[in-house]
Amino acid sequence: MVGLTPVGIAGLGRYVPERRLTNQDLEKVVDTSDEWIVQRTGIRERRIAATDQVTSSLALEAARQALADAKMDASELDLVICATVTGDQPFPATACRLGFDLGAKQAGGFDLAAACSGFVFASQVAAGMIQSGQYRNILVVGAEILSRILDYSDRNTCVLFGDGAGAAVYTSLERAGRGEFLGGSISMEGGAEGVLAQPAGGSRHPASNSTVEQRQHFMKMGGTKVFRFAVRVFAELVNNVLEKYGRDQVGVIVPHQVNQRIIESAMEQIGLPMDMVFSNIDRYGNTSAASVPIALREAFEAGRLQKGKLVVMPAFGAGMAWGHLLLRW
Ligand code: UT7
Repeated sequence: MVGLTPVGIAGLGRYVPERRLTNQDLEKVVDTSDEWIVQRTGIRERRIAATDQVTSSLALEAARQALADAKMDASELDLVICATVTGDQPFPATACRLGFDLGAKQAGGFDLAAACSGFVFASQVAAGMIQSGQYRNILVVGAEILSRILDYSDRNTCVLFGDGAGAAVYTSLERAGRGEFLGGSISMEGGAEGVLAQPAGGSRHPASNSTVEQRQHFMKMGGTKVFRFAVRVFAELVNNVLEKYGRDQVGVIVPHQVNQRIIESAMEQIGLPMDMVFSNIDRYGNTSAASVPIALREAFEAGRLQKGKLVVMPAFGAGMAWGHLLLRW
């Protein structure tokens, strides 16, 4: 049997739109307060895409930064995977537009829809394809414009989410020289359409006058259920890594940026100090599939990815779907 090709991350990128939507701005459109939002979530502001931007425009900026970081030309890419639930349109895939805009002339591409777990799942798909020898260089992007599916009259959801994109270039560890892929996990528990979803626009509730009138094209969420689920699986995912590798090996945890209180509760359950977590939720809110790669790039820039130490990335969200990505930097 031919051995597996070790995989690494050659480059990381991120992009967030210019426009900031602060808690004070939200106080003017919905019955909420800066105090409530900060206490319950840790969020102070989030970014909102300009009207002329689409999801592939955000993805393009993040991808260009990741390719520059990797010192790789887009023409070297074999595959482009875009993790998103707010693509440019239901089809064709946003990855096809992104590949075209990048000039990734040799690449195939597809989208992966796993909401907040999207980047973590797509990274495992990419790494597996490189390990097997099928492909050499794969771009994985997590990109979302959640503001286009948020109901700004629903305070349960509109304060939590923002727009952005993050990207990683996977290649052989030999070429990348860092960010060794050690594995991960992908889990799901179906039947949770009522907990966190964009109810209409698919085959269950096709677009009609009534779905529009009932605001069914906007995101709906039962926040408390998601809160409990998120704390439980975050703790389980990290505990599994600690059991296998030992606490001393872990350099930093870069979780899905869901809610500061969820992160704090999970870390308390695990028994690890908060200084082992990288969080930027105060500035961007929850950006779904974009949250882990944006945080990963920022953790890199902040010098939080320590040579030889593990980077643990737990993610969880709609589905319910959850999993983790594990790298050694
Ligand atoms: O990637 C996964 C995506 N999901 C998430 O990120 C959501 C995870 N869940 C959460 O982050 C939290 O559950 C929330 C932040 C959504 C809510 O926090 P909570 O501590 O679970 O509050 P709650 O749902 O128990 O609501 C408490 C109260 C309610 O009022 P009543 O019924 O007790 O009078 C809500 O109506 O807070 C009210 N409330 C708000 N008040 C001011 C809900 N949203 C707001 C708001 N501003 N934006």
